[in-house]
Amino acid sequence: MSLLIRDLNFSDEADYRAASNEFVGSGFDWSAPLEPQLAWTEYVATVHAWSRGESLPPGWVPVTTRIAEWDGVVAGRLSVRHELNDFLAHVGGHIGYGVRPAFRRRGIATALLRDGLEIARRAGVAKVLVTCRDDNIGSATVIERCGGVCRDTVEHPDGGQPMRRYDIVLSPA
Ligand SMILES: CC(C)(COP(=O)(O)OP(=O)(O)OC[C@H]1O[C@@H](n2cnc3c(N)ncnc32)[C@H](O)[C@@H]1OP(=O)(O)O)[C@@H](O)C(=O)NCCC(=O)NCCS
Repeated sequence: MSLLIRDLNFSDEADYRAASNEFVGSGFDWSAPLEPQLAWTEYVATVHAWSRGESLPPGWVPVTTRIAEWDGVVAGRLSVRHELNDFLAHVGGHIGYGVRPAFRRRGIATALLRDGLEIARRAGVAKVLVTCRDDNIGSATVIERCGGVCRDTVEHPDGGQPMRRYDIVLSPA
């Protein structure tokens, strides 16, 4: 069994879209911001451009997408926002991740978050904000295992479950 955390690439289309379908209705948007009207190669190129801070939609901040590959299959996805806008500072946070149901409880989210912390550190972030729903025990455990200290719990502007906000202090790059 092997786990590789890497950039999205041109051969990921089928797995990535299958994963996206598995998350429909779950409250976690795997594909964000997958735009089905884009050809896959164009989508991958756009995602890489966003990581460099290029071609960003209005109001967006630079964001790096990473993939967890388990035995050659796309199993998880990570987003690392390099800075915070108002929404991200309130409930979105710097880092988001999701693991496909069939691949959970293998340490993949923990490995993704660790990878994301290194990306944030290289982007110059000193203190990473990671959030999760107050009832998301799995994600809270992952964050705490990676050094997260719960700052507070806030209401989500869209309603629903309150959100826990965790800080993770990074050493300088
Ligand atoms: C939350 C989520 C990312 C966890 O992914 P994962 O790869 O299964 O997490 P890990 O294997 O790294 O879990 C690490 C630890 O967290 C705890 N944990 C994980 N999922 C758990 C669950 N459903 N219930 C209770 N504890 C859980 C366990 O202690 C686990 O360690 P263990 O398996 O050795 O006991 C995954 O369930 C998921 O994608 N959920 C939907 C999307 C989501 O909630 N994303 C996070 C948004 S903040």
